[in-house]
Amino acid sequence: MNRILITGHKGMLGRELERVARALGKEVIGLDLPECDITHRKQIERAILDAEPDLVLHAAAFTAVDRCETESDLAYLVNATGTQNVCLAAQKLDVPLLYISTDYIFDGEKPHPLPYDEWDAANPLSVYGKSKWAGECFVRELCTKHFIVRISWLCGHGGPNFVETILKLAKERDELKVVNDQHGSPTFVQDVAPELLRLVDYGAFGTFHITNQGYTTWFEFAKKIVELAKLKMRIVPCTTEEFPRPAPRPKNSRLSPRLYENALGNRMPPWEDGLKRYSKER
Ligand SMILES: NC(=O)c1ccc[n+]([C@@H]2O[C@H](COP(=O)([O-])OP(=O)(O)OC[C@H]3O[C@@H](n4cnc5c(N)ncnc54)[C@H](OP(=O)(O)O)[C@@H]3O)[C@@H](O)[C@H]2O)c1
Repeated sequence: MNRILITGHKGMLGRELERVARALGKEVIGLDLPECDITHRKQIERAILDAEPDLVLHAAAFTAVDRCETESDLAYLVNATGTQNVCLAAQKLDVPLLYISTDYIFDGEKPHPLPYDEWDAANPLSVYGKSKWAGECFVRELCTKHFIVRISWLCGHGGPNFVETILKLAKERDELKVVNDQHGSPTFVQDVAPELLRLVDYGAFGTFHITNQGYTTWFEFAKKIVELAKLKMRIVPCTTEEFPRPAPRPKNSRLSPRLYENALGNRMPPWEDGLKRYSKER
């Protein structure tokens, strides 16, 4: 794969995918708003056909989870129909497509600490999760050569993410309540992006989960962020009910990376290592 097209290349993951691909000597064609809109079928088809990539990494999405509840038409337009458009063009070229999906396609009712397997039934709770699941369905229906990779609790340079939110709040407050009954695996773009490219090279199509190793709660994650930054803000545990958000979140977001580990024979670094490296480099 020498000519890689990345949708959403200006986003948190897209930027890192582009950096890693270029470092490997690949040619990269990046598509993103405002120049190219995946919801415009003809525009995205022309852009992909003209670029003649030998791989499409589809990372573009409407990712504002709470806004998806109030802007559901846009969520389905981007995450479902946009994905359909990207798939149709990739299939016309008969090239592999890798779609980034999410832990939010599960309802989180699996008893913690059991992680979700790749073959567990989807039952998204939120509009964001439903629209991403609709995207997955298009990928399976339309692209013969597809990878679907579900990731969770994504953090990376530049993007708005949980680490940055906590560090910003720590400058403004002495104390912060953070939910302690949602479990998941923080995943760092610097760790996951190279693995996505390795998975493509390995060539085993299908659905995979890739997250940093280990799991935690948002409360424990926040505590670690503040501790590493040597800040003073006190982190206080609370329940989901005490901190209502527009979009419901799965209580158990753990994803088993079994099929990825079977395929590539290696394991992702622990999330604490990812956080340490991120904190040093930011
Ligand atoms: N963030 C997480 O915690 C998380 C967790 C699990 C899975 N994921 C998935 O991982 C992927 C990457 O997420 P991310 O956090 O890197 O997202 P991000 O930073 O929001 O990047 C997404 C990019 O897609 C662009 N985009 C949005 N609508 C578009 C359209 N109609 N046409 C073309 N480009 C469009 C965005 O542009 P604008 O910024 O201008 O809108 C942005 O540059 C997504 O598929 C997401 O669903 C994310």
